[in-house]
Order: sequence, then structure tokens, then C-alpha cells
Amino acid sequence: MAILDKHKFIETNATLLLVLSFLVVTIGGIVQIAPLFWLENTIEDVEGMRPYTPLELAGKDIYIREGCYVCHSQMIRPMRDEVERYGHYSLAAESKFDHPHQWGSKRTGPDLARVGGRYSDDWHVDHLVDPQSVVPESIMPTYGFLTDNRIDGEYIGDLMKANAIVGVPYTEEMIANAQLDFNAQADPDLDYDGLLERYGEDSVSVRNFDGQPGTTEMDALVAYLQMLGTLVDFSTFTPDASR
Ligand code: HEC
Repeated sequence: MAILDKHKFIETNATLLLVLSFLVVTIGGIVQIAPLFWLENTIEDVEGMRPYTPLELAGKDIYIREGCYVCHSQMIRPMRDEVERYGHYSLAAESKFDHPHQWGSKRTGPDLARVGGRYSDDWHVDHLVDPQSVVPESIMPTYGFLTDNRIDGEYIGDLMKANAIVGVPYTEEMIANAQLDFNAQADPDLDYDGLLERYGEDSVSVRNFDGQPGTTEMDALVAYLQMLGTLVDFSTFTPDASR
């Protein structure tokens, strides 16, 4: 029997087709789903990773709300052209505190996984207010309204609690001080010692990100963009070859 005849036999036998289809889908499903049960083992612990500060977390929320992920990915693939353009390929651990992850699936704009520190705060504000003022050929939409939207971090503790439920290691102390830390990060006149103590002196930037008085959505978004991909020190990082 030629192979095509065998296939015809399956296709004209509804029950057999159903049983075999079910089998194929089951195998495919297991291959996709089973590794998730061993997720703890597949994400290696990497030095430097910490949960987002309250202000950065608010920025990430704005990033999601505005649909930035529709045009931007946050996942540098381990291929030469990507690594040369964007920097070290993304590690699983680098998005382990993202709920939901922001890998994205489309690059109308460049990957943002390591955009942190690449431009000044002013550049980001100018770019978000009017992308074409800094990149004349840009087709990115404008987000100037973020500068007018004041936020006070009233609900950021709740968002941190929700993140803690799904496994982000926010401590009781971090959650209790959420609003304080939120405001301190964008205003160097406030007392930010507690913020640095809780999240790490070397990896948290305290500045007035948008250059205006008060905390705005622009502050939060720029604080988030400026820390993307900066937590792991790749000059000392060596992949764990035993995995
Ligand atoms: C319609 C698609 C689109 C959307 C939505 C979009 N962008 Fe962009 N973005 C682009 C394009 C195209 C570029 C490249 C040209 C430029 O730099 O403006 C870009 C560039 C950037 C850059 C500079 C990256 C680099 O490495 O030079 C940043 C940062 C950025 N976008 C952030 C954002 C943020 C934050 C949001 C959501 C508030 C957003 N983008 C929404 C299309 C988009």
C-alpha cells in the first residue's frame, strides 16, 4: 500500500482519524506543557535580579496599558545579528518577575530588553512626547499626555501584593512602604534611604526622571525603561553549563 493510500484510509475513516488526531494533539500538548512543571529548574538563578521598585512597576503597568508591547519585543534571541545590535541575549531569569512577560511577538520598533541606560532621561521624554523630534523617520505614536498625568502610588501596594501572590518576592516591608518608596524614587529631595536599602543601592536610580515637579506617569515609564536589562552584570556573568 503506497503511503498516500494509507492516508486515504485514515481520512475516510472518521473514528480512526479522530483517535489519531487526538493522539497527535496529546503528544504536542505534553511536549509544550510538561516542562512548565519543572520551571523552577529551567530558570537558573542569576545574580543581580531583584523585583521592580514600586515606581518601575507602575511604569511597567503603563507600558502594558499603552500597548507598547504591540510594537516592541523584550527578548534578545541568541543569534549573532541580535546580540550585535541589542547586547547579550536575554536570560530566562531576566523576565522571571514579569507578570505577564513582555517578550512580545512583533518588532515594528526595536527590541527594548536592554534599552536601559542607552539614552538620557531627556531623550526618552522628548522621544515619548514627540518621537520625530529625535528620530525624524519614526512612526511611533506620541505619548505626551503621560507628562500631564500625575500619580501618587496609592494603589501600587495592591499591585505588589498581587505580584507577591504569583511568586514575586516582595516582602511585607516592601509592600508596607510601597507608596513611600514610590514617591521617593522620583524626588531626590525626599528620604530615599529605605528605598535603596530594600531594593539595592547599586541597581536603583533615584532622579526626577521627567524633569518636572511632582510624580507623573512619564516619571514611572522612564524609570522602567531606564532599568530594562541593566540588573545582570554581564562582565562577570557565566552561564551555568551543568544545566
Ligand atoms: C506603532 C508602533 C509603536 C508603538 C505602539 C510604540 N512604539 Fe516605540 N518605537 C516604534 C518605532 C518604529 C521605533 C523606532 C523609531 C524611533 O526610535 O522612534 C520605536 C522606538 C522606541 C524606543 C527607542 C529604542 C531604541 O533602541 O532606539 C523606545 C525606548 C520606545 N520606542 C519606547 C516605546 C514605549 C515606552 C511605547 C509605549 C508607550 C512605545 N514605544 C510604543 C514603534 C512603536
